[in-house]
Amino acid sequence: MPQFESLQSEADAAIAAATDTAELERLRVAYLGRKGQVTVALRGLKDLPADQRPEAGAEIQAIRAHIEQALAERGEALAETEIQAQVSAEQLDVTLRGRTLPPGARHPTILTLQRICNWFARFGYGVNYGPEIEDDYHNFEALNIPPQHPARAMHDTFYFGDGRLLRTHTSPVQVRTMSESKPPIRIIAPGRVYRCDSDPTHSPMFHQVEGLCIEENVSMADLKGVVTAFLRDFFEDREIETRFRASYFPFTEPSAEVDVRRAGGDWLEVLGCGMVHPAVLREGGIDPERYTGFAFGMGVERLAMLYYGIRDLRVMFANDLRFLDQFGGTAQ
Ligand code: FA5
Ligand code: MG
Repeated sequence: MPQFESLQSEADAAIAAATDTAELERLRVAYLGRKGQVTVALRGLKDLPADQRPEAGAEIQAIRAHIEQALAERGEALAETEIQAQVSAEQLDVTLRGRTLPPGARHPTILTLQRICNWFARFGYGVNYGPEIEDDYHNFEALNIPPQHPARAMHDTFYFGDGRLLRTHTSPVQVRTMSESKPPIRIIAPGRVYRCDSDPTHSPMFHQVEGLCIEENVSMADLKGVVTAFLRDFFEDREIETRFRASYFPFTEPSAEVDVRRAGGDWLEVLGCGMVHPAVLREGGIDPERYTGFAFGMGVERLAMLYYGIRDLRVMFANDLRFLDQFGGTAQ
C-alpha cells in the first residue's frame, strides 16, 4: 500500500520539522482531525474489495498510532524548550531587596475603645453586640420612648422609611440583653451609632460603649462609683475635673450626664447614665420589685478627644495620615 507508507513518512518529516507547539497542533488536525488524512483513509476502507480491508485497516491503525506517538514525543520536547525560553527571558534577581510598606497603626478611636473594654473586662463585664440597623421597638419603644414621645426629637434619627433605622445609641443592646438573659447581668456593648449631627463635638457616625448591670440591690451609688473609678483610670490619675449633672432619659430614673473639664476650661459631656427605669426592666422580662440596675452610654470619640487633647472630633474621621501617624504608626 504505497500511499499509506508515504503518509507515514511525510507525517514524520513534518512533525520533526515543527518548531512550536502551535504548529504541532495544526499537524495533528491535518492528520488525525475529523477531516485529517488518516481519518479520510480509514473512511475510504469501505471502498476497497472486502478481502483487502482487514490488512489495509490494520496498516492505517498502525500509522495512526505511530503519528499519535510522534506528536506526543515532539510535543513534550517543544513544550520543554518553550518553558526554558520563557524562564531565561524572565529572569528574577532574587537577591534584590524587597520594598517595605510602612507599618500601620490602630486608629485613636479603636485604641480608646480597647482601653474602655479592657477596663470593664477586669470587673467581669461581658461584651454584647447588637445590629447597627435597628427597629423602632428596640431603639425607642422598649426603652420607654413611645411613638409621639418628645424624646425622639433628641435623636436626629436616620430612618430607612420601612420601619428600620440606624440605631441612634447602643441602648437597644440593653433591651436585647434583657430579653435573652437573666440577672445577674453585667455587660458592655461597644459599637457604632448614627445621628444626623455635625459640629466640632458631634459626628454623624460615632462610637458608644453601653454598660448594663442588673443585680439585687444595685444603687445609684454603685453607678457613680463605677463611672468615677473608670474615668480616674482612663485618664491615668491625671488631675481631671468631672461633674455629675442631673439629666433626663426616658429609660433611666434618676438620670445623669457626666462632663469632664477641658484644657480651655469648658466642660465636655462624655456620657449619659442612670438607674434602669422599672418599665424597661418589665419590658425585658425582669421583675423590678426584685432587681435594680444601672446603665450608661459613653461617647468613645469624646473620651479620645479629652485623652489626646483633640479639639475637633471630626479629624478622627478625616483619614489624614499626618494626624493618624501620631498614634504609633509611621509613614517612613
Ligand atoms: C445616649 O445616647 C443614651 N443612650 C446614654 C444612656 C445610656 C443614658 C444608658 C442612660 C443609660 P446621649 O445622647 O447623651 O445619650 O449620648 C451619649 C454620649 O454620646 C454623649 O454624652 C456624648 O459623649 C456622645 N455623643 C452624643 N452625640 C454624639 C455625636 N453626634 N458625636 C459624637 N459623640 C456623641
Ligand atoms: Mg447627652
